[in-house]
Amino acid sequence: MLEESLWRAHAHPAFPKSPLPNEVDVVVIGAGITGLTTAYLLARSGKRVAVFDRERIGSGETGNTSAHLTCVTDERITTLAKRFGDDGACLAWEAGATAIDLIESNVLERRIDCGFRRVPGYLCAPFFDSAKLREQIDAIRADAELAARLGFPVTFDETGPLTGKPALAIADQAVFQPLDYLAGIATVIEAAGSFVRERCEVGDVIQDPLAVVVNGQTVACTDLVIATHMPMVGARNLIDATLFQTKLYPYSSYIIGARLPADSIAPGLYDDTTNPYFYLRVHEDSGGLYAVFGGEDHKTGQETDTEACYARLEDALQRLLPRASAERRWSGQVIETSDGLPFIGEVAEHQYAATGYAGNGLTFGTAAGMIIHDAILGSNNPWRDLFDPQRKASSPSALRRLVEENVDYPLHFIADRLRQNRKAGVENVPRGEGRVIMIDGQRVAVHRKDDGTVVKVSAVCTHMGCIVRWNTAEQTWDCPCHGSRFTPDGLVLAGPAESPLDPI
Ligand SMILES: Cc1cc2nc3c(=O)[nH]c(=O)nc-3n(C[C@H](O)[C@H](O)[C@H](O)COP(=O)(O)OP(=O)(O)OC[C@H]3O[C@@H](n4cnc5c(N)ncnc54)[C@H](O)[C@@H]3O)c2cc1C
Ligand code: FES
Repeated sequence: MLEESLWRAHAHPAFPKSPLPNEVDVVVIGAGITGLTTAYLLARSGKRVAVFDRERIGSGETGNTSAHLTCVTDERITTLAKRFGDDGACLAWEAGATAIDLIESNVLERRIDCGFRRVPGYLCAPFFDSAKLREQIDAIRADAELAARLGFPVTFDETGPLTGKPALAIADQAVFQPLDYLAGIATVIEAAGSFVRERCEVGDVIQDPLAVVVNGQTVACTDLVIATHMPMVGARNLIDATLFQTKLYPYSSYIIGARLPADSIAPGLYDDTTNPYFYLRVHEDSGGLYAVFGGEDHKTGQETDTEACYARLEDALQRLLPRASAERRWSGQVIETSDGLPFIGEVAEHQYAATGYAGNGLTFGTAAGMIIHDAILGSNNPWRDLFDPQRKASSPSALRRLVEENVDYPLHFIADRLRQNRKAGVENVPRGEGRVIMIDGQRVAVHRKDDGTVVKVSAVCTHMGCIVRWNTAEQTWDCPCHGSRFTPDGLVLAGPAESPLDPI
């Protein structure tokens, strides 16, 4: 089984790191869908923009996605209507629909070869056994009725696809190859006289006058966009750290890529309403039908047997599509919020951030580009207030989630310090595994590589001091408190941590 996302299997052009400009209108940190869409729209409006990514473009979660382009939000539309009114729910879905339209027009206008196709989408009753099937079907029917009343092309099908159980059916959703799309718009940004630079880490932000420090060089700007998925805080507390840390909850999600026989199922998007839900995307490429099947979500750092997540997912795929032939697997992180909507907009004067997309980051990330573009140009935007990062969780269910999710930090900070490894000893760490071991009074994260060599780093997360845990399936150290992830030798893979684990 290949251990790489399907989208990364394509080679993409490199964007060289020098020369860097000394001054631009807008600096964008992060070259995923959020950063590059924002930069693309600003460059099209005449701004001189520089986008910096510490890795390659799309190396973050945009490269790990399942690439459903849908306006159907993870948070159900009836729940959104209870929290934000019918108008708010309608605006949230419209953001997704408008984002798909923008991607389509960019693809057509710029002739980007990224397999963009319109397909139908389905929100299906649970694929497998469900104790509360009748309730789930009633909820899907209520979603369909509300969405249709609000003007979306939705129907309720008594006999849905795949299992024959009822489903909400929606027209005009889409699929594309996300990294081919990013490469396409990055090329246009460069051609417009702006800059996309890979392997350029923004290490610090200087506030007055505004500038970033990139690989040791200062680049001045009028506006700054933080498009790092989990917003970077920086050495100078760029964004009010607690604002985001208490409001963002990273979850890991797993995907299997599989070839399907030609007569299996029509291309489309098929998600169910299990909690956590399964998601299936079927597209056609030169080799025939291909399935991208995901699920098994859990809070990052809190699942001890991550291999079992893949095993259960593979089993579910075989039950759903018995002739599927699994060929690759990968995982990534989505970031959830207590009220189910993202945070997009101004976080300090001339500074903007966008995060908390849950499983809708391709559409909300594209909408973020539109919102931030309009904010920088001083234009009105229909979604500005709905996604305002300063909004408070007001409904009882959102407040309950805020409290539940924030138990992790004090709980794991204390409990993981009390826990002792009974088989403590570097010699007990098998190849390909990792253990946290007390050595000379320090908690040390010990990993034994497949060739037998041992790598030791501090097990204390550099974000707020929790103890990291080994993730066997991904070969990473993950933090159970706020979801930071590190390579075996301690480099940051995903924030909020911004510094590597200390060397031992
Ligand atoms: C398994 C999975 C399935 C998903 N399925 C879907 C789906 O079907 N549909 C959908 O709409 N969404 C889906 N999502 C969500 C979506 O993929 C993400 O929300 C979205 O791609 C996030 O884009 P982004 O640009 O905000 O962040 P990212 O793509 O993570 O980009 C952030 C970039 O910032 C860079 N960076 C970080 N720190 C620095 C620094 N200091 N200096 C320079 N660069 C830095 C990183 O290298 C990275 O490239 C899925 C996500 C996962 C994990
Ligand atoms: S302590 Fe916050 S992510 Fe580790």
